[in-house]
Amino acid sequence: MRLLVINGPNLNLLGKREPELYGTSTLDDIEKMLAKQFPDIKFEFYQSNSEGVLVDHLQKGMSGAFDGVILNAGAFTHYSYAIRDAVAALKIPVVEVHLSNVHAREEFRHRSVIAAVCKGVIAGFGAQSYQLAVRALLGIIQKK
Ligand code: DQA
Repeated sequence: MRLLVINGPNLNLLGKREPELYGTSTLDDIEKMLAKQFPDIKFEFYQSNSEGVLVDHLQKGMSGAFDGVILNAGAFTHYSYAIRDAVAALKIPVVEVHLSNVHAREEFRHRSVIAAVCKGVIAGFGAQSYQLAVRALLGIIQKK
């Protein structure tokens, strides 16, 4: 099982960025935790602050090299049609994740333009959102 885990803008600041909302784990901590917790899965982790670079990386999901994608597109979630279209082009399942409960926050965060082209969305469980996303993908992929 090979999973691509893609994080968008400002998620490189995890640990330092608004810890009351996003927790104290760094992105590196989260990636290490996933690799440790799911030793049989081959992860590729990627983070970028740039929309086009994220699109380029999502297109890697079309190569046949991955079985699923976990995507936290950060603020792009709420308005990037380019990222939505890149997700829609993929034939492998994509799970949208958020550390915070976006529905309990500002109104602009209540809308995701990406969610409709994803298998599902996990939000509000901090770093654990990523673990839950892996479990969701395992369930979908193993059923096939
Ligand atoms: C986030 C929620 C987004 O609204 C925000 O712009 C982020 C992080 C989350 O993980 O909770 O950058 O995606």
